Amino acid sequence: MPRPIQATIDISALGQNLAVVRQYATKARIMAVIKADAYGHGLFSAVSGLKAADGLALLELDAAIELRKAGYQQPILLLEGFFSSEELAEFQHYQLSAVIHHEEQVAMLTKSKHALDIFLKINTGMNRLGLVPDRFSKIVDHLIESRCTRSLTLMTHFASADIPTEKENVIRQFESFLSITQGYHFPRSVANSAAIIRYPETQSDWVRPGIMLYGSSPFSDKTASELQLKPVMTLASKIIAIHDLQSGDKVGYHGLFEADRPMRIGVVACGYADGYPRHAPTNTPVLINNQRSRLLGRVSMDMIAVDLTDINNAGLNSPVTLWGEGLPVDEVAHYANTNSYELLCAVAPRVERKIAP
Ligand SMILES: Cc1ncc(COP(=O)(O)O)c(C=O)c1O
Repeated sequence: MPRPIQATIDISALGQNLAVVRQYATKARIMAVIKADAYGHGLFSAVSGLKAADGLALLELDAAIELRKAGYQQPILLLEGFFSSEELAEFQHYQLSAVIHHEEQVAMLTKSKHALDIFLKINTGMNRLGLVPDRFSKIVDHLIESRCTRSLTLMTHFASADIPTEKENVIRQFESFLSITQGYHFPRSVANSAAIIRYPETQSDWVRPGIMLYGSSPFSDKTASELQLKPVMTLASKIIAIHDLQSGDKVGYHGLFEADRPMRIGVVACGYADGYPRHAPTNTPVLINNQRSRLLGRVSMDMIAVDLTDINNAGLNSPVTLWGEGLPVDEVAHYANTNSYELLCAVAPRVERKIAP
């Protein structure tokens, strides 16, 4: 029998979450964000559940090419564009759309003989990627004169659409985008998951949802189920050892957890080398036999300890859910002081992904 940890990927949940995006963004086209191996879910499995999307966005060129070779025909957008002029031939050959976010990319493209579908990204305040607003009109004119764009879409990205108290900054970024691009009648793309839901006025022509497709809430004040989102990945394993503790016995590295009464604990085949967050503290929730319990002590590379004291019928091989169906990944992320993006992306290659159709 293989080591029992597994990530089950619910393909139909992806389709349902995509339908939720459509309900929010009835007029926009949907560019499903599948970077980082579809947020850790597995590129091809995820794409099979996202067939109804109008395009895909990622930033790994080899993955984009694989998708084309596998017959995917809708637009594929490379979110960081190209990194050298050598890549331009592949962009053109495989009809890949490129984000252009700095002037060196403009120079590479205009000097080449290639013409691409371009998403021109403007920095409206996040100060991550994007052109300086003052240079926008010169660059658009230059791109058009150089005949190196097959199509042009204007884009920006919000820094804090997920934080309720940041409304002013979101509106400021959006208004700045509208004012910079005023008079240019090209399609626009602005909204990530949080903005699709909370700022529908920003949806424009293409929305770019990521995290909500995977069934996680973009917000800390609204759960995924309140948003009708279904978990796509369920990370599960089994109990591989059991111990009865006396009061005062300690658990795991550095004895971080100490029993204050007689307890029964289980050891689960799941550790930080599987992608479980090492900083998850005692009391982080887990499900054992579908009953809620908690992590005890320090997460090791390959194992964690959990509390079986009040769990009915728990024994060797009892199923343990680390997150997913029945236990939102957002909740585990909250305990571990991180977000669901990090947990989902970090699931290690050694964890088998099993597809649930
Ligand atoms: C440019 C861009 N658009 C869209 C997204 C999707 O964001 P989210 O997963 O929050 O919906 C990302 C993700 O980080 C991104 O970098």
